[in-house]
Amino acid sequence: CATESHAYVIFGATGNLAKIKLLPALYQLHCLGYLAPGVKILGCGRTPHERDGWRDEVRKILSDSGTGTGSCLEGFVERLDYLIGSLQDAAFYQALGNWIGTGECARNVIFYLSLSPGLYVPVTVGLAQAGLLAESNGWRRVVVEKPFGHDLQSARHLQHALNTHLEEEQIYRIDHYVGKESVQNLLVLRFANMILEPLWNRHYIDHVQITHAETVGLEGRASYYDGHGGATRDMIQSHLLQVLALLAMEPPVSLEAESLRDEKVKVLRSIRPLDITQLASHAVRAQYAGYHQEAGISPGSHTETYAALKLYIDNWRWRDVPFYLRTGKRLKERRSMVAVRFREPPMQLFQGTGAATVHPNWLLIGIQPDDVVRLEISAKVPGVETRTRQISMDASVGNPGERKADAYEDLLLDVIEGNRSLFLRYDEVKAAWSVVDPVMQAWAEDEHPPLQYPVGSWGPKAASQLFGKAGQEWRQSLSCNGEADV
Ligand code: BG6
Repeated sequence: CATESHAYVIFGATGNLAKIKLLPALYQLHCLGYLAPGVKILGCGRTPHERDGWRDEVRKILSDSGTGTGSCLEGFVERLDYLIGSLQDAAFYQALGNWIGTGECARNVIFYLSLSPGLYVPVTVGLAQAGLLAESNGWRRVVVEKPFGHDLQSARHLQHALNTHLEEEQIYRIDHYVGKESVQNLLVLRFANMILEPLWNRHYIDHVQITHAETVGLEGRASYYDGHGGATRDMIQSHLLQVLALLAMEPPVSLEAESLRDEKVKVLRSIRPLDITQLASHAVRAQYAGYHQEAGISPGSHTETYAALKLYIDNWRWRDVPFYLRTGKRLKERRSMVAVRFREPPMQLFQGTGAATVHPNWLLIGIQPDDVVRLEISAKVPGVETRTRQISMDASVGNPGERKADAYEDLLLDVIEGNRSLFLRYDEVKAAWSVVDPVMQAWAEDEHPPLQYPVGSWGPKAASQLFGKAGQEWRQSLSCNGEADV
């Protein structure tokens, strides 16, 4: 066996995530030369396939999507193998063990659980019972997708069950959002520059907005979304709280995994518990009109497809600065961004144009689709009068022709390299559940249905009331046109 020989075993290999994310990401890593020659990829699933049938299918997926061509594609396909079997069946794990090899030929293995969360434990137990998690001959790593549990208590149970068979160092809890270039750029913007950090606190920042807006709906995932999801669980508990943590954390000692995660967890643990008696002034949930007519949605479901929260971080840097988080499906635009509004100068010497006399400074960071950084400042309008208007200084993060890596490429490579910096530690996950659990519980006990919003809108009007300050609103776009563009 080649010493660098290792294997990516994908459970759920014929599922959607594997098709649209995992296989294309591994393909890119192959073409860019990041996969050592000995790396093999084993797809595991229930769909009957011989190895060649599976290779044909992957060839088709990659060429239909326009990413896979030529010798690169053929070289990638050569790495693929397939194992059919039932995850409940001990014989399957034995066959997997034979494929992995024994003794000196045992490979380093990554088990990627691209499965429904209910299968994480049975599969881990199956692997453990077949002796496939023991690291006596090379390393064994298990990647689990979010959500890690569906609330704090179930996350505890899941952790306990996984810990029975795995060391914490073997568990990679993936949050693909953290792998996005623009999200990783938050750390670079903050800690590779001197100009932001002195202003990055309660003395200069009025509030922070984090938005993840989608135009898509359930995309065939009704049973997951309606039963185990909802916007708060699906997006806020994981992705948006990770963005908040990266924005608000203290400078880490280094980029080493534990240093980064220590700082993130401190932020999450400092989030002030939401006052459930005043929930409407801190949290809004809503459903898009027509949600109940979607296939697979239970009648009368209260699952929210939109959620907005106003959070405070009770520490020296951020005390009393609101962080507004919102996300929704079937909204007007696909847009994810961070908008940081600075405080106003202590006195106004100038008159603004139009109705606005004050133009606050904003730092806008586009996450997707635009990967831009934009600073809005006031400047003099040319002419004899001394009037000001808002102008923006902006930059696209990439240069023309530069290829942006997909989040999964980065993260899948990190697992091979054993770099856990961008993966979530259990205490982070726990702290994030502690933030959203009380809200979800209060909503679950509320007999009133969620508010409704029209498809193609920016969500319910009530979400604007979270600001509670005259003139403050959600930023809907990155364009510079004054205070807010509702
Ligand atoms: C996933 C959620 O984690 O993230 C989806 O389950 C959501 O509901 C998706 O659509 C958004 O991420 P991206 O990278 O597609 O914008």
